[in-house]
Amino acid sequence: MFFFLLFLSITALSQLVHEHSKPVPSFRIIHGRVAGLHSHPYQVGIYVTGKIQSQFCGGSLVSNNYVLTAAHCVEDVNALSMELIFGAHNVTDKSEETQVRRISTEFTVHPGWDWSLKQGDVALVKLPEPVNETEHIKIIRLHSGNETFAEEKGTLAGWGITSNTQTQ
Ligand SMILES: *[C@@H]1O[C@H](CO)[C@@H](O)[C@H](O)[C@H]1NC(C)=O
Ligand SMILES: *[C@@H]1O[C@H](CO)[C@@H](O)[C@H](O)[C@H]1NC(C)=O
Ligand SMILES: *[C@@H]1O[C@H](CO)[C@@H](O)[C@H](O)[C@H]1NC(C)=O
Repeated sequence: MFFFLLFLSITALSQLVHEHSKPVPSFRIIHGRVAGLHSHPYQVGIYVTGKIQSQFCGGSLVSNNYVLTAAHCVEDVNALSMELIFGAHNVTDKSEETQVRRISTEFTVHPGWDWSLKQGDVALVKLPEPVNETEHIKIIRLHSGNETFAEEKGTLAGWGITSNTQTQ
């Protein structure tokens, strides 16, 4: 189910403590509410096929040729290929006419990616052919400049569960 979190601060995530007692966030994000139809047109659904297993992840369209996702989406399953779904509300519903799909086998993980510290959890996926913007597929605007956005509220969008007890 497509949901988004209105806001979330890093410190609100469940935390692990590493040797220097710096809080390390968990990957888990929960709660939120069902998003309006196509209210996050930069959102990309990604089915990652790995060497041994597969998983589903989210990403953002950052240009006609690249999708930004998390390093752990690629590394945790030793990704071999990815199916990227653009313009979707319900990613499992292939009859949605707004959807565009691409398969990619080219991705780069941030060189500073550190699983235990959850740092540099960034990867870029190159599309084999560009995706054009439509009413329901848009490139997200990236900030240019030095602002850190520390302590500010953001929006998280993705497909997931909206309660602890929900199973799908
Ligand atoms: C999404 O689409 C699938 C396949 O059509 C359907 O089974 C499922 O109920 C849909 N989910 C929602 C939340 O509408
Ligand atoms: C994307 O737009 C370009 C320029 O308008 C066009 O030539 C190309 O065929 C479009 N690609 C797709 C996949 O629709
Ligand atoms: C960003 O920071 C650098 C170094 O502090 C500074 O030289 C530069 O002017 C800043 N750029 C902007 C757009 O604020």
